[in-house]
Amino acid sequence: MANGITGCAITSWATALPEQIVTNFDIMTLFDTSDQWIVERTGIRQRRAADGPFVHPAPSGSPEGGMGTTAKLATRAASSALEKAGLTGREVDLLLLCTTSSDQLVPATSSPVAHALSIRGGAMDINAACAGFTYGLITAASFIGAGAERVLVVGAETLSRITNWHDRTNAFLFGDAAGAVLVEAVPGDTSLLGWDIGVDGSLVELCYADHGGTGMAMRGQEVFRRAVRITVESASKSLERAKVGPSDIALFVPHQANSRIMSAIAERLGIPGERTASVIEETGNTSSASIPLALAAAADAGRLTPGDLVLFAGFGAGMTWGSAVWRWTGARAS
Ligand code: UT7
Repeated sequence: MANGITGCAITSWATALPEQIVTNFDIMTLFDTSDQWIVERTGIRQRRAADGPFVHPAPSGSPEGGMGTTAKLATRAASSALEKAGLTGREVDLLLLCTTSSDQLVPATSSPVAHALSIRGGAMDINAACAGFTYGLITAASFIGAGAERVLVVGAETLSRITNWHDRTNAFLFGDAAGAVLVEAVPGDTSLLGWDIGVDGSLVELCYADHGGTGMAMRGQEVFRRAVRITVESASKSLERAKVGPSDIALFVPHQANSRIMSAIAERLGIPGERTASVIEETGNTSSASIPLALAAAADAGRLTPGDLVLFAGFGAGMTWGSAVWRWTGARAS
């Protein structure tokens, strides 16, 4: 417990991707579509897949044993983040695994990940679909405020397992990945300056996948329309609560759903494209993993300096949404 310390900071970050690249040209072998159509409508050129028609099953007896695929990606990203911070899982108070593609119904995927990382502090999954990572980050800051010292927030997905690979209306969107951030208690003020979360459960039918069903079903245009409006509203609330304006934001990290959605949101918020983080061209929509992937890419590219304000904003099936204004502090001196 970090008694008397109320500040929190992201002090380490890392990502993990499956090896298999699936290009739009690969997708063209599945149904009637084109690279040009997918790029124009979504900005996506390729994605990574751990499962699905382009992946051959791993030989039995692989080093990761019987661990599920979301857990494997989550473990890789989380262990790199810990290693970069010079820490082990024993020093983590809580693991929050944000995922909408858990490996099993029971237990939570966070349990095998905690075991692989030697985390005994506590672990749970957060399923808020593509808004999951924003929910996770806000939850982490809350736990730090309540006395936790270190919370590991991981967004990890293997959407390839719940994609309907024959559905030409959405199969080209999704990818697999994991991104992890370490949130630590630090002296001083909190880095979470303003936040907002929400849900409209009357919109479940817009995007869903049933147990034993054929995979993801989505009303794309409807999701698109509502996502832009809801995310702009949420991000505006977070900015207002943080008492800052769009021009104060050094980096906007939106959920990587579709480059057209991302730029429509940025434009309505008044944040220019050069201050928006994007990895969608290479990764597709990786749901809970997309925000930490885009954050890590921007941080690794030197686009953030201590003191910068970052705006996170996500939306997803449910419909859920979440946003946060966060003060960047930089990597932990390990
Ligand atoms: O993470 C949150 C969850 N989801 C999202 O964020 C997705 C939000 N929605 C979207 O990104 C877009 O709605 C899509 C990329 C899924 C689709 O783009 P759209 O501009 O909304 O396309 P549309 O559904 O309006 O279809 C336009 C046309 C149709 O043809 P007609 O009727 O205009 O002749 C479709 O039949 O494109 C056709 N079409 C395709 N063409 C080539 C639909 N799918 C394809 C395809 N390849 N794969």
